Amino acid sequence: MNFVRNAWYVAGWSRDFADDLVARCITDQRLVLFRRSTGDVVALEDRCPHRLLPLSKGNRIGDTIQCGYHGMTFDGAGHCVRVPGQDNLPKSAYVESYPIVERHGIVWIWMGNPDFADPDKIFDLPEFTDPDWHAHLGDALHIKSHYLNVAENLVDPAHVSFVHPTTLGNAASENVPVHVSTAGETILAWRWIRDAPPIGFFQNFGNFSGNVDRWHYYHLHLPSTAVIDFGSSDAALSLAEDDRDQGVRIFAIHFVTPVDADNTIDYWMHIRNTATDDEAASAQMDTMFRKAFSEDVAVLEAIHEAEALPQKRKPIRIAIDKGPNVYRKRIREMVEAEATEYLGDPEAPTFVQHD
Ligand code: FES
Ligand SMILES: [Fe+2]
Repeated sequence: MNFVRNAWYVAGWSRDFADDLVARCITDQRLVLFRRSTGDVVALEDRCPHRLLPLSKGNRIGDTIQCGYHGMTFDGAGHCVRVPGQDNLPKSAYVESYPIVERHGIVWIWMGNPDFADPDKIFDLPEFTDPDWHAHLGDALHIKSHYLNVAENLVDPAHVSFVHPTTLGNAASENVPVHVSTAGETILAWRWIRDAPPIGFFQNFGNFSGNVDRWHYYHLHLPSTAVIDFGSSDAALSLAEDDRDQGVRIFAIHFVTPVDADNTIDYWMHIRNTATDDEAASAQMDTMFRKAFSEDVAVLEAIHEAEALPQKRKPIRIAIDKGPNVYRKRIREMVEAEATEYLGDPEAPTFVQHD
């Protein structure tokens, strides 16, 4: 499988990294990470250049890693600082290092050409630090599926009524139109379900006594960060689309990290404008999300297995597939663009193009 590599992916939560060496695989590249005594997290190629023992099987000595086989030692930048048995350090005795940025308790890693690693491109939202909102880091969900099916599921409102009937959806939304816009940087699918009973989530959060208006806005930031803006407000208020802050509003955020062709980690979290001082509410929401996401995992893993079987006929696509189709196309274009090295625009080319 081809992955988009020139992208910031989530390598884990800040709390995942301390003194120990942590092995990770992202876009099929093996990594070892640790937090240096200076407080920053570093990520290195998890492969000793000598006999290829993963460095994560070695020992941390101060801010270096000593290989667990013959003791070659590498610093946090990947430079070899010691080769036992000789004084010189061969030029090719190094491991790759990867750019890391830590923000809001999230550790981001750049998997592509380090020259293009621009921290300004890291996903951010003002609500992460807005005192009227509460951000809560959830968990890491391991899914035996490739990441495209996982990300696609997150721009697909149509599955919610069928896969999550007790938590995130109910029968009221089955035939409510889904709107899709692919014009901007993100792929957006959304719908409003007006004047219907609250879904399980908003029976627990919101104290609604009667029918509600409910919205779901699915933003997919390429390559694989999904923000699901969903919420409810009393149907009697007839909330306008742009006034969603006046309702109970939640951003469920999924940082989808491709592991390899058959595995994905969904780092999920949520930000809310309700019960902002209530840690018990965070735990309750985690429980509901865990239930809903396990429903997705069951579907996605079964699909992944089915896709690996010999296919007599091609799968079909239906009206609801607009968002996912555009998503796949954009990913193909990004992978294609990375297939060759970008050398910058040529100066005074003598090649004249007419279309
Ligand atoms: S395999 Fe790492 S030092 Fe030999
Ligand atoms: Fe789902």
